Order: sequence, then structure tokens, then C-alpha cells
Amino acid sequence: MEICAMSVQFPASDLGHIPTCFDRGSSPTTSFFVSCSRPDKSRQETENPKSEFSNRMFIMGMGFVGKFFARELTNQGWAVSGSCTSLVNKKKLKDMGFDVSLFNAKEPEPEVLDILNKHTHLVVSIPPIVGIGDPMLQQEELLKSRLMDGNLKWLSYLSSTSVYGNCGGMWVDEDYPVSPTDEKAKSRLAAEEGWLKLGHDLGISTQIFRLGGIYGPGRSAVDTVIKQKPLSEIQRMRASRHYTSRVHVADICQALRASIYKPSPGKIYNIVDDDPAPRTEVFSFAWDLVNQKWPGHLKQTNSLYGTESFSMEESSRGEKRVSNARIKKELGVRLHHPNYKSGLKSIIDHMDNPFL
Ligand SMILES: NC(=O)c1ccc[n+]([C@@H]2O[C@H](COP(=O)([O-])OP(=O)(O)OC[C@H]3O[C@@H](n4cnc5c(N)ncnc54)[C@H](OP(=O)(O)O)[C@@H]3O)[C@@H](O)[C@H]2O)c1
Repeated sequence: MEICAMSVQFPASDLGHIPTCFDRGSSPTTSFFVSCSRPDKSRQETENPKSEFSNRMFIMGMGFVGKFFARELTNQGWAVSGSCTSLVNKKKLKDMGFDVSLFNAKEPEPEVLDILNKHTHLVVSIPPIVGIGDPMLQQEELLKSRLMDGNLKWLSYLSSTSVYGNCGGMWVDEDYPVSPTDEKAKSRLAAEEGWLKLGHDLGISTQIFRLGGIYGPGRSAVDTVIKQKPLSEIQRMRASRHYTSRVHVADICQALRASIYKPSPGKIYNIVDDDPAPRTEVFSFAWDLVNQKWPGHLKQTNSLYGTESFSMEESSRGEKRVSNARIKKELGVRLHHPNYKSGLKSIIDHMDNPFL
């Protein structure tokens, strides 16, 4: 099978099927393996002569980050494959130019693991399931036996800053002791440890990336404001925090790319921006941006997102400011969007009028 390096367009709606900026921990039962055929092999060879042999990426969980990363890599001449979980997503991915095959992460089928084995790089983007753990690692021995003599040389697990727990508003770097408070964060930490161990046993350079709240085109405070829906209870609880780490999806992708070219086995990296601002501030800024660009369309007022509408009881939950010093120092990352203002402005600047 030839695997693609074609340019794929991702409409904002495809990049933004999840309205919240936080970890969902969903638990679907089936998923699909995705690949796409590259029609223009000569271009790939010209741009990257070794790519057929050395640059094959498998993205386990072609969700918001996965799709964005896949698009960037394919545009750079990489062969990219991935997985997703539902028929709806299968169709969307097909519409983007990908072929899709059935794949169940909880019971990985040997054929799919064999396909994975032909890849040199793997990003694991599937969240753990509370009460079960990481769905792939449930089949750890099978995974190990299938991947033992394969081509994989770089593996990255996308984790969450939730593993730090509540740090009383302190700045936390990767050496800060982890102390996950809820079951989801505990499963996340166990998944980190499981993937590090698997990678070590297989002799694959394995890195962990702890992500802040992810936003980007199609999934941001601007999109939430435009939808004009009241915040959910969980969004309201999160909005009451003084500090919320977040990161634009483009900056996640640049950190992953930097790690590919500078692998560091066992290393953990936080990927967040410079400004852990409260969500109330972010929503208020997003409301102003939307109202300035398309005046008169918003029915709800900006005060909906003000601090007064949230109970102070919740405000101490999960408080921490997450440091990104390591990705800057060790991976040479220079953030495209060091704060939410830059990220949201770029999102709205590229948006068509949603009120038409
Ligand atoms: N959202 C945030 O703010 C945030 C913050 C920190 C960390 N994270 C974590 O970072 C990773 C990437 O985030 P994201 O926002 O790109 O996630 P996402 O959009 O929810 O994508 C997750 C992917 O995993 C697949 N998946 C979920 N459960 C699966 C299962 N049991 N078996 C097989 N595949 C499964 C999903 O399939 P479908 O495409 O079919 O749904 C999807 O492709 C995730 O692990 C997420 O939990 C997220």
C-alpha cells in the first residue's frame, strides 16, 4: 500500500467538532484505521528523497490535534496514517481524501498493528478511559510482540497538564511532583507511565507531551461565543479558575515536529503558552472580537462571561501555572501564539462570516 503525502484541506467545522477546550476522556468502542494514497510519488521523492523509508507517521486518534498535525506533515512530504472511532468521522476523513478501515483500539487487530509496524513514527492521541485505562495498553503484550522488530523509532504520547493536580497557583515545570486528583487525571498518569515503559522495552525513543487546554480554528472561545450557547456547568466551573493553561494547536504541532528532529527518550514536555489567563478574560476578549467584527449579532452580553457569574467556591480547583521553559530551551520552540489574544485574533482573522 502506498501511503499519502498529499495536501488535504480541513474545513474549520472538521477541526472543531468538540466545543470545549478541555480533555473529554470519551469511551467509544470502535474506531477506524485511516490511510490515504499519495498520487504524486515523484514530488515526495524530490522534496524528501528518504521519506518513503524514514518518514512514516501513524497518528493513533486522528482527532483535533491529529488532523492538524497530519495536514502539516503531509504538506511536508510525510506519509501519514491514523485512526478514528466513528462512522461519522470515517466519512469526514474520507471526504478529506483519506481511506478508512475499521480498527478497534480496545481489541487491536493484528493486521492494523502490522500496518502500524511499517511506520517510523507514532503519535498516541487517544485519551484513557476511566475505569479501564489506556485502551491500547490493555493489549500491551500483543503490542510489544507486534512492534518488537518493526520500524518504529519515535513515539509520542499526548497527555495533559491535569496530572499535576492542584498546585495552589504555583508555577509548575516538568520536575514538579505529579499529584492527579481525579480519576481521569490518574488514568492519564498511568497511561504516561505505560507508554514510557512500552517504548523503553521496545527501544523506541518515547516522549510525553503534557498539553494545556487545546484551541485552534473551529474550537476556541470565539467559536463558543458565536454559537451563543450558555456555558455548560463544567465550563462554568473551569471558568472560575484564576489560571488556565492553554495552547494553540499550531504550537503543539511545532513542538512535536521539533521533537522528531531532536528525540529524547523518556523526556516529558509541557506544551502551553506563556499566559495562563483565566477563562473569563479569554471569553470576554473573544466576545469583543466577535462583536467588533460582526456588530449586532450577539444576543448574549459580554457580562455572561464575567467573574461575578461564577461561584468562588470552585475557584481553587486545579490551580496552577504551567511553565513552557523546557520546550523553548531544549526543543527551540518559538511560540506562534504566546498568548490567547494572538491565537484568537488569528482565528477570527481567517473566519468567514458565521452569521450569514
Ligand atoms: N482537548 C483538550 O483541551 C486537551 C487538553 C489536554 C490533553 N488533551 C488530550 O490530548 C489528546 C489530543 O487531544 P484532541 O483534542 O486532539 O483529542 P480528540 O479531538 O478528542 O481526539 C482523540 C482521538 O482519539 C480517538 N479515540 C478516542 N477514544 C478512542 C478509543 N477508545 N479507541 C480508539 N480511538 C479513540 C478519537 O476518535 P474520533 O476521531 O473518532 O473521535 C480521536 O481521533 C487527547 O488524548 C486529549 O484527551 C486534550
